[in-house]
Amino acid sequence: MGTAMMLIVAGHESSVNLLGDAVLALLQHPEQLGLLRERPELMPGAVEEFLRHDTSVERSTSRYAAEDVELGGVPIPRGSMVVVALGAAGRDAPQAEDDDPAVLDVTRPGALHLAFGHGIHYCLGAPLARLEKTSIALRTLLSRVPELELAAPADSLAWIGSGIIRGVLSLPVRYRVG
Ligand code: HEM
Repeated sequence: MGTAMMLIVAGHESSVNLLGDAVLALLQHPEQLGLLRERPELMPGAVEEFLRHDTSVERSTSRYAAEDVELGGVPIPRGSMVVVALGAAGRDAPQAEDDDPAVLDVTRPGALHLAFGHGIHYCLGAPLARLEKTSIALRTLLSRVPELELAAPADSLAWIGSGIIRGVLSLPVRYRVG
């Protein structure tokens, strides 16, 4: 039961909100949306870019320092709780020279991110999340819904305040089914 609950909890909110974050990003960047409609083969790389640009699991679960360490000039005493800002990592540094990490670019080759964590607790569902849940769902949405636009100003959207999950509470859209 514990394993089943863990899979459902870890696999649901993360995937639902990555889809929401990706659709919101595309609606705010219509040129990127157009590129993905014209070139659906870009989708696997675009999913990595969505994970980098605005991921749904923005912070890690808690860790505790096993020994005194210093990180970026900050002392972390043994036993203190550490939470990693996974979402920030994708925008920490330019992905390539002369590149702005704040820019969404669905053609970006090999976007670097920590969206699935790192090490022994690396996301168990990463291949499923990449493939079925995001790539296939977005491709299906874009091919079946030829006209899709935000139905509310982006700055009026309310965000989930969980501290771990990043996503909007609801994403109002206008659409026409082809
Ligand atoms: C876009 C979708 C997803 C994202 C962004 C995501 C992200 C993450 C992250 C960041 C972690 C590591 C947390 C930490 O180290 O504190 C994690 C762990 C985990 N994820 Fe995912 N996940 C996604 C989808 C899924 C799916 C679909 C499943 C299951 C089918 C899943 C199952 C798990 C499990 C079981 C863990 C814990 C692994 C462990 O502690 O050893 N995730 N996920």
